[in-house]
Amino acid sequence: MTTMSGSDGASAGGSGERGWFSPPSDAAPAERPLERPLEREASAEREASAERDVPAERDVPALRRVPASSGAAAASGPIPEPLPASAPRPVPAPQRTSAPGPATSPQRILAARSAEDSELIRATMTELEGSSDAATAYFYALLFVQHPHLREMFPAAMDGQRDRLFRALLTSVRLYDDPEVLVEYLRGLGRGHRKYGTLPTHYPAVGEALMAALGQYAPRSWGPRAEAAWVRAYTAISQIMIDAAAEDEARAPAWWDAEIVTHERRTPEIAVLTVRPDQPYPFRAGQYTSLETPWWPRVWRHYSFASAPRPDGLLTFHIKSVPAGWVSTSLVQRARPGDVLRLGPPAGSMTVDHGADSGLLCLGGGTGIAPIKALVEDVASQGRPRPVEVFYGARTDHDLYDLDPMLRLQERYGWLSVRPVVAAGPAPGEALAGQLPEAVRRYGPWLSYDGYLSGPPGMIRSGVETLVGLGIPTHRIRHDSLDALTPAGG
Ligand SMILES: Cc1cc2nc3c(=O)[nH]c(=O)nc-3n(C[C@H](O)[C@H](O)[C@H](O)COP(=O)(O)OP(=O)(O)OC[C@H]3O[C@@H](n4cnc5c(N)ncnc54)[C@H](O)[C@@H]3O)c2cc1C
Ligand code: HEM
Repeated sequence: MTTMSGSDGASAGGSGERGWFSPPSDAAPAERPLERPLEREASAEREASAERDVPAERDVPALRRVPASSGAAAASGPIPEPLPASAPRPVPAPQRTSAPGPATSPQRILAARSAEDSELIRATMTELEGSSDAATAYFYALLFVQHPHLREMFPAAMDGQRDRLFRALLTSVRLYDDPEVLVEYLRGLGRGHRKYGTLPTHYPAVGEALMAALGQYAPRSWGPRAEAAWVRAYTAISQIMIDAAAEDEARAPAWWDAEIVTHERRTPEIAVLTVRPDQPYPFRAGQYTSLETPWWPRVWRHYSFASAPRPDGLLTFHIKSVPAGWVSTSLVQRARPGDVLRLGPPAGSMTVDHGADSGLLCLGGGTGIAPIKALVEDVASQGRPRPVEVFYGARTDHDLYDLDPMLRLQERYGWLSVRPVVAAGPAPGEALAGQLPEAVRRYGPWLSYDGYLSGPPGMIRSGVETLVGLGIPTHRIRHDSLDALTPAGG
């Protein structure tokens, strides 16, 4: 991997030896994305939007104060410095550990958690169900009122995806009993946060807003013990993210600039883009990245790599514009060769285990065929044939925009079979009619196959259900996180 540019000692993981309750000064992020051509235009919009998003200070209910003798204080290690009466209760500042490995080991988290903590946290979450939208709005309002400089790290309009940060906190807490998965998830999140310019010193601010939102919207289950449990959980979560970001600094940039070299419109809604990153971009077939366009600064969306890593270092994406979609519409209709996009680090675990002999049963719906194609190329590159069965689904025949290239791969590789599936309208030629999972059910048996699914969340859910029903255990089924797949507002 390449070395990172634009960081200093205060960047992710750089809080050094400072005390638990005395974080370093909240300096401007060292890794702020550079100003882009349309950034100024967007910043006027951002300011206007910030005014709309953030309630006036008087509208924010007063924070609950926790007695100094509470379990939270006891749980947090050293005695906190006294606070001015009006200050909200701080969340401990996580620290950059000198040896990130052991500090972030699942064992440490396991040791830190207790059955009582899990129970207290679950009770808060159960109470929060039904009011999580309001709690999210409150969380951000409070965060931006108390730390206005953080507002500019976020997109101008936050209506669609603003619940992601809050939801991830809840997901993390939900995964608290499954440390292996939790640690992997959080390490990825921590690495991904470098592109936002997130610093260790920002974490207490987010933690305080979170605690206040929980106290406000889950009052029945909230109290000193619940708060102490949440502080412990949040501190562990933050520490893992911070350490992963710090480790990543040594080997990779916070983001990559990537120039579009080809832009091919396959249908009015779908374009295939090839980009050249400014530095080598390491990834594995089946993974995805986050992408920011010059037209919507700070608005990041996920897109899957449509090919396995190539010797020329170029990356390909299949983009479908969704109605009124900010990023996808720009990429399909506006982007041209020469435009420069920004990429975050690779993510996702829908990758092939080359040590196994099992076959690959792949379901790709719409542009979900992109990572499936990458997996096929990946298997081909190993020179060790194993059966790969691809079911390629689309709404209509017209939407099977990548069928010809897939059929060419089938001609080339005897171990590959590609079956187009059309949900609506006529199913010409070899195409099967119906939904993808139904089509898969007509073939098989699939017991010696691992499942790989990519496409809209609904397709993934019904696909997984079908594969499990056909006898493939869940641990042999891979797909992108449904949490990440939930469309904005969905
Ligand atoms: C892991 C992962 C991999 C992905 N890979 C690809 C890929 O390879 N190619 C690709 O084209 N997309 C892919 N996506 C979807 C992509 O990240 C964006 O969600 C999509 O491009 C819409 O973004 P937008 O900014 O244009 O729309 P937004 O501005 O976010 O949304 C505009 C409107 O469209 C709705 N909407 C959002 N997403 C969808 C959707 N997928 N279908 C229907 N309506 C939607 C929203 O609810 C909203 O009403 C992937 C998503 C994930 C999580
Ligand atoms: C434990 C703490 C945190 C968790 C679990 C968390 C989680 C998330 C998640 C899941 C997202 C969605 C996009 C992505 O996957 O990158 C996100 C976005 C973001 N986070 Fe965090 N985050 C945390 C702390 C912070 C902190 C301390 C900051 C700095 C202020 C921050 C700033 C951002 C920004 C700017 C975005 C982009 C928002 C957007 O695209 O709408 N996060 N966070």
